[in-house]
Amino acid sequence: MNNAIAQTTALLSTCALLLTGCGGGGGPVTVTNSPNITRNNTTTDTAETTTTSGAIPIGIALAQTSNVALLGQEGFVGARIAEKYFNSKGGINGTPIRLVSQDTSGDEAGAINAFQTLINKDKVVGIVGPTLSQQAFSADPIAERAKVPVIGASNTAKGIPEIGDYVARVSAPVSIVAPNSLKAALKQNPQIKKVAVFYAQNDAFNKSETEIFQTAVKEQGLELVTVQKFQTTDTDFQAQATNAINLKPDLVIISGLAADGGNLVRQLRELGYKGIIIGGNGLNTPNVLSVCKALCDGVLIAQAYSPEYPGEINKVFRQTYIEQYKKEPAQFTGQSFAAVQVYVEALKELDKKTKISTLPLEKLRTELNKQILAGKYDTPLGEIAFTPVGDVIQKEFYVAQIKMDKDGNTGKFVFIK
Ligand code: ALA
Repeated sequence: MNNAIAQTTALLSTCALLLTGCGGGGGPVTVTNSPNITRNNTTTDTAETTTTSGAIPIGIALAQTSNVALLGQEGFVGARIAEKYFNSKGGINGTPIRLVSQDTSGDEAGAINAFQTLINKDKVVGIVGPTLSQQAFSADPIAERAKVPVIGASNTAKGIPEIGDYVARVSAPVSIVAPNSLKAALKQNPQIKKVAVFYAQNDAFNKSETEIFQTAVKEQGLELVTVQKFQTTDTDFQAQATNAINLKPDLVIISGLAADGGNLVRQLRELGYKGIIIGGNGLNTPNVLSVCKALCDGVLIAQAYSPEYPGEINKVFRQTYIEQYKKEPAQFTGQSFAAVQVYVEALKELDKKTKISTLPLEKLRTELNKQILAGKYDTPLGEIAFTPVGDVIQKEFYVAQIKMDKDGNTGKFVFIK
């Protein structure tokens, strides 16, 4: 089998796995314990508002199809766990929330469609999403113009909260998260001198992340021997990998998404690269393991969530996730849970001041946006709050290293800091 076919096969089997068995978030979700709550991720029964359905609709705009679903499905699962948990605790002072999901797929057009449907047809009070920063730069301005709050739960590029007054995020930016993995690499190998950087040039987050990595490399006094570019749609990285390996780097840093990034890791190893590899936030998913398999072993990835975080709500979140999925929750799942939590707690606060059922939707969205930014939230990510522009304020960050099992098919993220 030639390399191109091998890569495509790996990618397709990853997606097939994902769409049939990873997370199970793609189809309608069965209500088991909350008979008052309608759950549906199609557009069929989503036109009710808070006044007619009795439940408060919160929009979830994440990628459930395309390669970007490797990230989006994890977020979707976290939001669903939060919905169930907070409704079991009485929802918004007695009124349940109802997640309304629209698939953004992996591109800007998909995100724009999802946002428009959620805002105009589903009449949500606010939106969690989209999955990619690249999508956020196109879709968030639509919410901004409609004065609908947006909480990014995986957007880490520079400039996301600055899109507008209604845009905030619980996903800590690349500037804060990314350099931690470089420090961890230097701790593991203080002899590192030459660094090769790879990034996906067609993606806003990856362009943003690589700038942070490249600056951090220079600040550590390391030599940046090459910067190799690729596309998130690429599957063949032989040329770029060979170019870099010829320069004998001691460290490789990759800013890509899960499918491309995973394939790049695999091809670097197949071509004989033996040094440390750092993956950025787009590779921060256990779904990457089925792309690079045994060759994922050792990749370092900075984290904005740890399953070990000792807070009470994290214990409940982690336990619920493990019971359902038989593995530890990952960062995007924790971040989506936190985003829904922010909506729930801000709605509760608002409802105490003015019964939200008496507020017209437009007024509710505006007041909710102010309340979101004013609050402090004890989430699975730790205690978080927002800067005036809507960026997350978070204290705890970590680095994990991928440890593959002997069979090369399964593995886990081992937290090292
Ligand atoms: N962190 C990635 C982004 O912002 C998924 O696009």
